[in-house]
Amino acid sequence: MAGVAERIAELKESRNAVILAHNYTSADVQDIADIVGDSLGLSIAASETDADVIVFCGVSFMGETAKILSPKKKVLLPVPDALCDMAAMCPAEDLRRKKQEHPNAVVVGYVNTTAAAKCQMDICCTSGNALKVVSSIDDDEILFVPDRNLGSYVSEKVSGKRLILWDGCCPIHDRITKEEVLALKQPYPNAPSMAHPECRSEILEMVDHVGSTEDMIRFCRSSDAKEFIVITETGMRHRLEREFPGRAFRFPESAVCEPMKRITPENVLACLENLSGEVLLPEEVIAGAREPVRRMTGMK
Ligand code: 13P
Ligand code: SF4
Repeated sequence: MAGVAERIAELKESRNAVILAHNYTSADVQDIADIVGDSLGLSIAASETDADVIVFCGVSFMGETAKILSPKKKVLLPVPDALCDMAAMCPAEDLRRKKQEHPNAVVVGYVNTTAAAKCQMDICCTSGNALKVVSSIDDDEILFVPDRNLGSYVSEKVSGKRLILWDGCCPIHDRITKEEVLALKQPYPNAPSMAHPECRSEILEMVDHVGSTEDMIRFCRSSDAKEFIVITETGMRHRLEREFPGRAFRFPESAVCEPMKRITPENVLACLENLSGEVLLPEEVIAGAREPVRRMTGMK
């Protein structure tokens, strides 16, 4: 009998499917994917693919974003109830009420939100383009949701804007401590260090480079160093080791996003076999969320 990877390859062909995986999924999931990347790269890939079926190996908001960008395609989530903790911190109804308190603010929303919350936004952003998105806005007052850490990083970098921050965060990045980072750096004093902007500002101040998971790949590409300190979720290790054999990457080992790790080659196979886990969104939600997401990706 064919193995899981072979069955996935056969079904991908017969169903004209593409498998997208986020950099935080486990190594064996990244190995069966066609494209592995950050939220921005995968959103663009989802909007450009010719495939009929998109299997999205990521948390549920990522599959929803793919559906918003490609509403005619079948978008499947191997684990539909793998939820991003940060997305859960910004219910659409709470955001609607907050907007009433700040009627003149432009609402910039991180892509790590539900489709319903996106309907309340003016423009979406990811960690890969948040600075560019906020800088491109002419108005001075911005309601930035839901990540207070990314929001405060952006507000320090972009001048002339008043950012009102939502009180949300990624618990996995937010709980990384200064002491942990110091302990990682101590044995490798010359190793370049990088952190995801979902970390707290005191962590971002300690590293050489701040960026999305895909920015981290670019940062490594531009360096000859053999050791790196990487302050983000540990799934990135596989991606980095694959791209840069012979280099070593030190992570805070407790930074594990459990929902991402629930995705396995076996449940990818099951969802391709049964066409299960389909992302189904009401038409009005797709229409309401499409404009802010489309603005973010620069789509027509
Ligand atoms: P990226 O924007 O780097 O893909 O990160 C997404 C995410 O969920 C980080 O926790
Ligand atoms: Fe959400 Fe944090 Fe997991 Fe990213 S790492 S998907 S922000 S819970």
